Amino acid sequence: MSVDLQSLEQEARAAIGAAADSRALDDVRVRYLGRKGALQDLMARIPTLPLEERRTFGAAVNGLKKILEEAIQERGRAFEAQGGGGKAFDVTLPGQQPFVGRRHPLMQVEQEICAIFGRLGFKVFRGPEVETEFHNFEALNIPLEHPSRDAFDTFYIESSDKTSHARRLLRSHTSPSQIRALKQCPPPMAVVVPGRVYRPDAVDASHSFMFHQVEGLAVDRDIRFSDLKGVLIAFAREMFGAKVRLRFRPSFFPFTEPSAEVDVSCFICGAEGCAVCKQTGWLEILGCGMVHPHVLRSAGVDPSVWRGFAFGMGVERITMLKVGIDDIRLFFENDLRLLEQF
Ligand code: DAH
Repeated sequence: MSVDLQSLEQEARAAIGAAADSRALDDVRVRYLGRKGALQDLMARIPTLPLEERRTFGAAVNGLKKILEEAIQERGRAFEAQGGGGKAFDVTLPGQQPFVGRRHPLMQVEQEICAIFGRLGFKVFRGPEVETEFHNFEALNIPLEHPSRDAFDTFYIESSDKTSHARRLLRSHTSPSQIRALKQCPPPMAVVVPGRVYRPDAVDASHSFMFHQVEGLAVDRDIRFSDLKGVLIAFAREMFGAKVRLRFRPSFFPFTEPSAEVDVSCFICGAEGCAVCKQTGWLEILGCGMVHPHVLRSAGVDPSVWRGFAFGMGVERITMLKVGIDDIRLFFENDLRLLEQF
């Protein structure tokens, strides 16, 4: 056999010694010990040797393999000890700024809303986005054929079972969680329910097929409309500033009686009249009312013992008002130039 293992060893040791960093060392390892490396090449020749040479030659190649593996490991450890894998490290270079993420503005506002109600004694409750037709409509006193259902119509999920307890849909408001919250936390109770809702609306500057709401519900023995007013005034002052005033306008929702829509005095122009409040001095922010007895009954709560108030507000609308964004689509485009401002 004409291969000179000794000079191969010398050559490999020189290459290991000359490797300037761990990457160069790895190249040397591949060159000698890799699958297509010099030693593998020698191993492949063993079966072609005369029988008497095979054993000694095989043992010699294996011995060399071990020697080189150890030498490479040792050199590698030396690089590690130097730190940085032996790569040159210029301490005068400016540092790299790590990218710091943050909560989406909508989630910041949602969190702020929940925190304010948290201080008023409300717990956070979460209901499913895929709801039953029963929870989204019937339990909330919205009968199958009632015209008010149009306003809350939504995306349905295909199912062969057409009963309202089985049929599923994407919830069109957070109100169905009132029923779930009442079943899970028997009164006296007070919860806020933040989350996504869906409607088959054409997308434009003020509409989106998906948006966020925060629902509120408080049920106790002697809850009155004045409690609702007090809680919402406390909320609005914290959210929009101590000077804001609220206006309750009579309205209709199937799940509350009486019902009201609430406006906050325009905190952008100080109720003087501006483009955002359309010169009215008022901004509509939520719907509310006293919980309809049908809703309590749907959740197994006796309306002759318990009463409650409820409210629901849109997180996009409140965020847009607070930060002065006039197009809802901006929230969902994920453009960092916008998101980084909050
Ligand atoms: N669910 C209503 C909507 O999506 C908002 C709402 C109004 C919720 C009045 C309430 C309420 O709890 O009492 O438009």
